[in-house]
Amino acid sequence: MGPAWLKDAVFYEIYPQSFQDSNDDGIGDLQGIIQRLDYVSQLGCNALWINPCFDSPFMDAGYDVRDYKQVAPRYGTNDNLIQLFEEAHDRGIHVLLDLVPGHTSDQHPWFKESAKADPNEYSARYIWTDEALWGMEGRPYIAGMTERSGAYMLNFFASQPALNYGWLNPHKHWMSATDSPEARATIEAIKDVMRFWLDAGCDGFRVDMADSLVKNDDEHKSATSAIWREIREMMDCDYPDAALVSEWSNPDQALCQAGFHMDFYLDHQRNGYNTLLRDYETEGGDHSYFRCDADGDIRRFLQDYLPKYERSREHGYISFITCNHDTPRPARTLSATELKLAYAFILTMPGVPFIYYGDEIGMRYLDLRTKEGGYQRTGSRSPMQWSRDENMGFSNAAPEQLYLPVDPSQDAPCVEEQLADEGSVLSEVRRLVALRHAYEDLQADAPFVVIDEDETTAPFVYGRGELLLAVNPSSAEKRYEGELLRGRRLVYQIGQPSVEEGCLTMPGQSFAVLASV
Ligand code: NOJ
Repeated sequence: MGPAWLKDAVFYEIYPQSFQDSNDDGIGDLQGIIQRLDYVSQLGCNALWINPCFDSPFMDAGYDVRDYKQVAPRYGTNDNLIQLFEEAHDRGIHVLLDLVPGHTSDQHPWFKESAKADPNEYSARYIWTDEALWGMEGRPYIAGMTERSGAYMLNFFASQPALNYGWLNPHKHWMSATDSPEARATIEAIKDVMRFWLDAGCDGFRVDMADSLVKNDDEHKSATSAIWREIREMMDCDYPDAALVSEWSNPDQALCQAGFHMDFYLDHQRNGYNTLLRDYETEGGDHSYFRCDADGDIRRFLQDYLPKYERSREHGYISFITCNHDTPRPARTLSATELKLAYAFILTMPGVPFIYYGDEIGMRYLDLRTKEGGYQRTGSRSPMQWSRDENMGFSNAAPEQLYLPVDPSQDAPCVEEQLADEGSVLSEVRRLVALRHAYEDLQADAPFVVIDEDETTAPFVYGRGELLLAVNPSSAEKRYEGELLRGRRLVYQIGQPSVEEGCLTMPGQSFAVLASV
């Protein structure tokens, strides 16, 4: 299952642009993150994922890497990043960097060489046809911009050419096989990048678009998985304490086949996770489970999640997220109480949870103009709200200099106030994370079982190891009766649940954790 530290890991995702500016230039930086490590630690998080902080023209917020081995000057230096690893480790915090293996920026020196007409070492580092005029088998491509005659494949935006890991069944002579020297060279180049940062002290990687490597891969992604297994072997052998989490959202493939330690449960595919927090894009309004009285149904989540959990639990961890830099913040639609219940659920599920910066105070999704290729994602990327000081404590720069504007509302949530308020979302999150650390049964490995999913009159009741948990996001009081309640007492609650004589009463919008006496 990988490194032992994952069992009790609670991650905090930091979008470095927007977390803390330490040098008054309006943009977050590594020293800023270092200054806030005590905050992360007091939140109870013992691991970080930092979005790409490497040299980049920032056409996609850094997911367009120009130099994998160089920290972007706006964030600081490589030495600052190494200092961050050390300071984090001093506090018992592991640090994952963001690895973008599927593409680079079109400004990357490899690509610039690759685009030259004269063949060179990098000619086949990317996927090119041998003629600029005929397109690329229905794949997104660019042609007509380079001295080389050929179209090159895109992996995401126009600035992100696809690296060449070969094709599963190459049927044109310009397609490389997965075991061709050029595909092998790409794998070795990415391994080299990983080694570079692991040797410098990082604890692993979040892997961007991990399923996107081999083109025309089969439906099981067998060839792409084989590459990750090879990389996992390298890690098991040389960096056994390092961890990999995939942006794949398919645990059957990512965990069971490809060997990732963790796989994100993302909202991309309108899956079970989405039905919990963001079921507002289907017709007929919002039916998110944690929206009070929105007619949500936990079974829609369970139908999707349970089979995935059962099949993958021996192989790795499904990672629940509060949100991420691509996803609308949950506070876009959920109230403070709804957020508390949703986070209580996420933080008591198996696997390894991730909290996106600012979600712990209920930061809002803002209506912002696109920045660095963010488009509608930009609204979830605004500066962290620390206090009521200038720019909410994010930066001392003039407001118009900021990377993105801070939430202008008078009642914008902030850390300082919520720390002083026992009833705040932040205080609840801190208590929930502490609870998870206190009970091994709430951590990554303890089994999850459904006890009562019929919510007509009962709350949703589930088990984690020896613990019994219940959640009632509706406004109606619900009750659960059962043998399992015998000899149990409440060890955590939101709202006013009560248990007596074999009956658990859950008032509207409540959550309970019960342990054996
Ligand atoms: C997924 C990342 O999370 C997203 O922000 C990025 O734009 C794409 N991959 C492309 O790298």
